[in-house]
Amino acid sequence: MRISVIGCGYLGAVHAASMAELGHDVVGIDVDAGKVQALAAGRAPFFEPGLEEILDSAMRSGRLRFSTSTADAKGAQVHFIAVGTPQARGGGAADLTYVHAAVDGLLPHLSPGDLIAGKSTVPVGTAARLAERVEAAGTGAMLAWNPEFLREGYAVKDTISPDRLVYGLPSGDAAPAARRLLDEVYATAVGNGTPVVAADYATAELVKVSANAFLATKISFINAMAEIAEVTGADVTQLADAIGYDPRIGRRFLNAGIGFGGGCLPKDIRAFVARAEELGRGESVDFLKQVDAINLRRRQRMVDLVVESLGDQVYKKKVTVLGLAFKPDSDDVRDSPALDVAVQLNGLGAHVIATDPAAIPNSIRLHPQLGFATDTLDALHEADAVVLVTEWKEYRTLDPVEVGRLVRDKLIIDGRNVLDPERWRAAGWTYRGMGRP
Ligand code: UDX
Repeated sequence: MRISVIGCGYLGAVHAASMAELGHDVVGIDVDAGKVQALAAGRAPFFEPGLEEILDSAMRSGRLRFSTSTADAKGAQVHFIAVGTPQARGGGAADLTYVHAAVDGLLPHLSPGDLIAGKSTVPVGTAARLAERVEAAGTGAMLAWNPEFLREGYAVKDTISPDRLVYGLPSGDAAPAARRLLDEVYATAVGNGTPVVAADYATAELVKVSANAFLATKISFINAMAEIAEVTGADVTQLADAIGYDPRIGRRFLNAGIGFGGGCLPKDIRAFVARAEELGRGESVDFLKQVDAINLRRRQRMVDLVVESLGDQVYKKKVTVLGLAFKPDSDDVRDSPALDVAVQLNGLGAHVIATDPAAIPNSIRLHPQLGFATDTLDALHEADAVVLVTEWKEYRTLDPVEVGRLVRDKLIIDGRNVLDPERWRAAGWTYRGMGRP
């Protein structure tokens, strides 16, 4: 099929390359000329395992190209909207400027029977409003909402073999035609038995935000238990293992630590609260404010733990911060708890040396005041405290004996509960976790 993808950020770049990998003829469009140039040269503008490989093979096959001009969308049958919906300045609501601009920009280039397929995460009610706009423009094109559930670090796999496909379809006669087009786009996944939920616009929009709200709630639930564990001497990781054996609960997304961050969960729960309030149903998701508050408290707890462990003497102490990205296998520092902890410790006067396998360039741009080291062993040299805040494999597998020879004081604070306390203590370290004795 001929496909256009408007917006080549995280979502769009992966989507465009994955669609070409699946055999479609794809044009990715973005207003950012630098990004378009990088992608056209086969370079991923961000760290994502597997993306450069498929970019490269798709470019060589001739099935993928990139452009800064929306006019190049002309001739495609399906137009994916994959632009960002950031948190609006001065409030929790989503900023839909880019979504509106993308749809408006497409209108002059649409042909009857084309399908606009929205992928961006939007407040419920957006698709219906956009559909009215498309209809009013008299293009004869249709609109569907097809949310994306990709996780950073697994984005290519999640796009090519998703857990499920959700189609928010127009009402009436257009529904079967829109569904046929989406089934054709995803023929490989559909043929492999991937479940398809065909619903209306509102349901599809809500599926996405409620999935993220649920995941955020699960993480904050276990972090709330960590707070209780901290005052009772219980161990939250054992607690998570034990409740996780119940298949109704499940162990995944029950890792207590410094909490969630990234470009999705924090902004999506805030936008959901804002939208529910607009709809007069604020009380239905009022608990998400608690989810957000618990999450932000954990970063503070981590900072307090470091300060307390250093005997309230952080000033000029060398604190090595292992990790800056909001999670491993990513260079993304948007709303990153790890970066936040580093910045707060630096603000308290600690001599912070932060390191990360991928996220240093993005962190320098935002916080040039921090000290950085690209090499983990350099970063650890003569540290008074070591703080693990992003659980990259190379930090999880550090050898306490070897690291013990580099530091000044054997004090480790594990903000992700991924180290074995006994092993570190046996090597002479003071080990402190989050919600662990
Ligand atoms: C999330 C959703 O998982 C994905 O389906 C959606 O499309 C976009 O948002 P992503 O932001 O890539 O994906 O990250 P995810 O793996 O969900 O992790 C989010 C945050 O939660 C990270 O900061 C991670 O460190 C944290 N987390 C995750 C925990 O603190 N504990 C856990 O048990 C799991």
